[in-house]
Amino acid sequence: MTKIFKAYAPASAANLSVGFDLLGAALKPIDGSILGDEIVISEAANEGCCVDVVGRFAHKLPDDPKKNIVYDAYLMYKEALENKGRKVKDLHMELSKNLPVCSGLGSSAASVVAAVVALDAIHDNVLGKDGCLELMGRLEGKISGSIHYDNVAPCYFGGLQLIIQENGIISTTIPDFDNWYWVSCFPGIKVSTNEARKILPKEYSRADIITFGRRIATFVHACHINDDKLAASCLIDVIAEPYRERLIPGFKEAREHGANFGALATGISGSGSSIFSIYTDLEKANEMKEYLERNFIDNEDGFCHVCKIDRRGAFAKEI
Ligand code: HSE
Repeated sequence: MTKIFKAYAPASAANLSVGFDLLGAALKPIDGSILGDEIVISEAANEGCCVDVVGRFAHKLPDDPKKNIVYDAYLMYKEALENKGRKVKDLHMELSKNLPVCSGLGSSAASVVAAVVALDAIHDNVLGKDGCLELMGRLEGKISGSIHYDNVAPCYFGGLQLIIQENGIISTTIPDFDNWYWVSCFPGIKVSTNEARKILPKEYSRADIITFGRRIATFVHACHINDDKLAASCLIDVIAEPYRERLIPGFKEAREHGANFGALATGISGSGSSIFSIYTDLEKANEMKEYLERNFIDNEDGFCHVCKIDRRGAFAKEI
């Protein structure tokens, strides 16, 4: 009998205010609801790969399945396998598109990661972790115009990821804080990462560069010495948020409300439009969730979850 695998890849928040392009966290709602994309993969009689899309945000993707990033993943995976002298199987892939596109929740990364994890599972993990990550980075770069791993790496490995890209290391897990609740809210509006990058300055002042370096270094240090107050005090952005906040109606008010409410920090998730707000008190996190549902969500596509960091990341299991 042929095997069928189901792969899951969680939502992620990139940047986290202090680490533009360099930090990202995988998220999972504490109520157990699914906040990630899924792929069911099986061998098929058809030649090549047939892709179907289902799920809450399926209607936001191109009608032609060959224009889906999952199909691109298949093509790149096929090439990678052929380079190893192996042949790709004929396949059927069903994507459950549960994450909204252009939402700041790592939606394209989740589709890419779920696809590559599913493809490698059904081919007995021929590419392995490093080969898969490299492929995921290239696919994500194809969508957003430049390769940045701050969604792909947390989505794939889980946890809080620091992008290294030195000495052959792409990313590493750094310790996160078990007592942090992350309120993650998508208002329902789209922000294209490409566009949100174009509005950033091409150059920064020496003072901003030093502030950025000082804060990210201190944040990583604080994670390693388990000082969550010091870590939270560094979650301030001088690189992107000052320029991007105008793209997200209600963000400034939400951040002020969060601060009055005892949030450790409130910032833009990736390039937006989602935002995150961090609490140590679950009751306060739930109150912020209610506030955002009433005041920040703009339409029926929006949603809000109280999350913890998803330390497991993406996985595939045989079903
Ligand atoms: N770090 C990217 C940006 C988004 O803020 O433009 C996620 O990859």
